[in-house]
Amino acid sequence: MKPKPNCIPTMELSTSPRRTQALEIISVFVVLVLLSTSNVDGRKARILDGFDYPAISCRAHSALLTDFGGVGDGNTSNTEAFRAAINYLSQFESDGGSQLFVPPGRWLTGSFNLTSHFTLYLHKDAVLLASQDVNEWPVIEPLPSYGRGRDAAGGRYISLIFGTNLTDVVITGENGTIDGQGAPWWEKFHKGELNYTRPYLIEIMYSDNIEISNLTLVNSPSWNVHPVYSSNVIVQGITIIAPVTSPNTDGINPDSCTNTRIEDCYIVSGDDCVAVKSGWDEYGIAFGMPTKQLVIRRLTCISPFSAVIALGSEMSGGIQDVRAEDIVAINSESGVRIKTAVGRGGYVKDIYVRGMTMETMKWAFWMTGNYGSHADNNYDPNALPSIQNINYRDIVADNVTMAARLEGISGDPFTGICISNVTINLATNSKKVPWTCTDVAGISSGVVPPPCNLLPDQGSENIAACNFPTDSLPIDNVKFQMCSYRSRMPQFESRDQDLEQA
Ligand SMILES: *[C@@H]1O[C@H](CO)[C@@H](O)[C@H](O)[C@H]1NC(C)=O
Ligand SMILES: *[C@@H]1O[C@H](CO)[C@@H](O)[C@H](O)[C@H]1NC(C)=O
Ligand SMILES: *[C@@H]1O[C@H](CO)[C@@H](O)[C@H](O)[C@H]1NC(C)=O
Ligand SMILES: *[C@@H]1O[C@H](CO)[C@@H](O)[C@H](O)[C@H]1NC(C)=O
Ligand SMILES: *[C@@H]1O[C@H](CO)[C@@H](O)[C@H](O)[C@H]1NC(C)=O
Ligand SMILES: *[C@@H]1O[C@H](CO)[C@@H](O)[C@H](O)[C@H]1NC(C)=O
Ligand SMILES: *[C@@H]1O[C@H](CO)[C@@H](O)[C@H](O)[C@H]1NC(C)=O
Ligand SMILES: *[C@@H]1O[C@H](CO)[C@@H](O)[C@H](O)[C@H]1NC(C)=O
Repeated sequence: MKPKPNCIPTMELSTSPRRTQALEIISVFVVLVLLSTSNVDGRKARILDGFDYPAISCRAHSALLTDFGGVGDGNTSNTEAFRAAINYLSQFESDGGSQLFVPPGRWLTGSFNLTSHFTLYLHKDAVLLASQDVNEWPVIEPLPSYGRGRDAAGGRYISLIFGTNLTDVVITGENGTIDGQGAPWWEKFHKGELNYTRPYLIEIMYSDNIEISNLTLVNSPSWNVHPVYSSNVIVQGITIIAPVTSPNTDGINPDSCTNTRIEDCYIVSGDDCVAVKSGWDEYGIAFGMPTKQLVIRRLTCISPFSAVIALGSEMSGGIQDVRAEDIVAINSESGVRIKTAVGRGGYVKDIYVRGMTMETMKWAFWMTGNYGSHADNNYDPNALPSIQNINYRDIVADNVTMAARLEGISGDPFTGICISNVTINLATNSKKVPWTCTDVAGISSGVVPPPCNLLPDQGSENIAACNFPTDSLPIDNVKFQMCSYRSRMPQFESRDQDLEQA
């Protein structure tokens, strides 16, 4: 028996217990509004679909990708549909803003640009598939703070989702997927066949008030999320997955950004889970834009060949005031790693890490002063990085090959290192000397196994010796509002027709 129009079941979107639960948690709901139960034939019904979601700002205007010719068959290119939709919606920038809904389907697309006061919302069963046709990837200028592309001199392929000079942009969804289909890019990188630097999945440049949340990103050609020269950035609830052997598939790379909050992310990738950056050698020094006021919390990371949190190696604009807490690391090369070199200039200072649990690590802590890897040979050999006030506390690590490898720069020691309340349980195959320290200075307290002499023990009464700021940063105070999306949805059209035929 067909359901009566006024008691249409709401099962359509909840196909499994897991999804039902997820739907409840994110308070997505389906509103089935019966507009006319008493119209002429008494049967015709229009069904509105809607849901609520949290975001930094809500929008007055809505559109569906399919309204712009989008086809979610996994084969048809939607590049023009995305560009047309966002171009159309850009007219609402100063009229309440707009949101573009990507319905269930597999949406093949090349790169497209975002606009201001705009939300891109992916349904949980929407998959953006990055085109593998190189013609779908325009080439843009290298980043001024890098002077060149990282894979090849000169330009770089624009990111899949790109925005520059924007304000108030949200990219979110109920865990919808962005699939970079990166394998051909990785292969070209390994074979040295790239003419330009590989694209990233999401890059936002020169922008303010950005939210990237509740999405799954898989198989990026290179870095996944790259906010650069931006401020007030929230990255929340992102799952990032790439083969652990894929090249440079960094998770989240805040780069010359102020006020960034990265939280509740799960990352398994072929490079650093979070890599904090600020430009490369003489280009980064000249550009002079630091990353500062960065919060990283509740991060789970698996990165067998890289770091959970890397600071550098491109840090020439400076990195300051990084606060990381509640971090879980599994099977990773290093926990926190500072990477720099002579010629970088810049600084890494006021770094605070507390509450970290690590399991199966090569090094719990690693600092590298001779990372090398220069943009070109024009770097200034007198440009020495300044590394100071680095605080690590309340950390437990199990099955660790070597507790720490701390290597500063001769004549330019890394100073103000503080390590307290840290227990490192070494693996059975561990090195005889668990700590190596050169050109570093600082203190320790309550650390097992006992650190090197360059970090003299202050006694167990100073177990809380290392600082962690107690004030909050402006980005900590940014709140989400409940926003809503209301529109007739295509998956209900067949039901519409059923009802009409009934
Ligand atoms: C993300 O989803 C979680 C539940 O999975 C929800 O609690 C949270 O509010 C959402 N956040 C954003 C910013 O979308
Ligand atoms: C896939 O798209 C290509 C190019 O747009 C087209 O030639 C081909 O027929 C399509 N294949 C299918 C199965 O739709
Ligand atoms: C996207 O933005 C970049 C950088 O501003 C620009 O070069 C490119 O032409 C834009 N793409 C489109 C389709 O407008
Ligand atoms: C974007 O902003 C930067 C920095 O303010 C500026 O140099 C650049 O010209 C702007 N680009 C556009 C396309 O407006
Ligand atoms: C999002 O999807 C990924 C990949 O399927 C899954 O591992 C993760 O648990 C999902 N997150 C949420 C909050 O449902
Ligand atoms: C790089 O450029 C060469 C010469 O123009 C061309 O033959 C080759 O196909 C290009 N490679 C890629 C990956 O685009
Ligand atoms: C400990 O680490 C080694 C690698 O160093 C790994 O092979 C082994 O499985 C780990 N053991 C446990 C109990 O996790
Ligand atoms: C030491 O670190 C543990 C977590 O590893 C934490 O529970 C405990 O409160 C810390 N002790 C002090 C004195 O801060």
